[in-house]
Amino acid sequence: MIKIGVIHGPNLGMLGKREPDIYGAISLDELNRRLTQAAQELGIELRITQSDHEGDIVRAIHDCMGWAHAIIINPAALTHYSIAVRDALQAVRVPAIEVHLSNIHAREEFRRVSVIAPVTVGQIVGLGVEGYLLALRAAKGLVQDSLV
Ligand code: DQA
Repeated sequence: MIKIGVIHGPNLGMLGKREPDIYGAISLDELNRRLTQAAQELGIELRITQSDHEGDIVRAIHDCMGWAHAIIINPAALTHYSIAVRDALQAVRVPAIEVHLSNIHAREEFRRVSVIAPVTVGQIVGLGVEGYLLALRAAKGLVQDSLV
């Protein structure tokens, strides 16, 4: 069975309540429910983590080593400055897909920079919750291709 770690960074627990015009009206629980349902249909086992603390995100990445075939991560604000998160992704050598609900490239200057992107296989931005579901399908495809 394909195993995927889904990691949500700081403030994503506020989804639905937080700036819904930018991040949408769907709560994190609902997003996770949709991901879990899609994963069941795709034959994927998920482990989902959310934390507002950088160290917890680093630990969640470490915990994927030896378990996950791929990581789907929305590092949230950590995207723009966390070398610790980037180093963790590089350390575990598990292919990661970076997801952002909003189009970070169409927002403030500081959001256009991702220190994480260079150590990921790809980035999906601006598609809201659909971006996570696409990432799930993409991750499955990548893992299957690497197993062939
Ligand atoms: C975000 C974009 C980040 O700039 C922001 O700090 C977030 C959410 C997104 O999903 O669009 O918290 O990662």
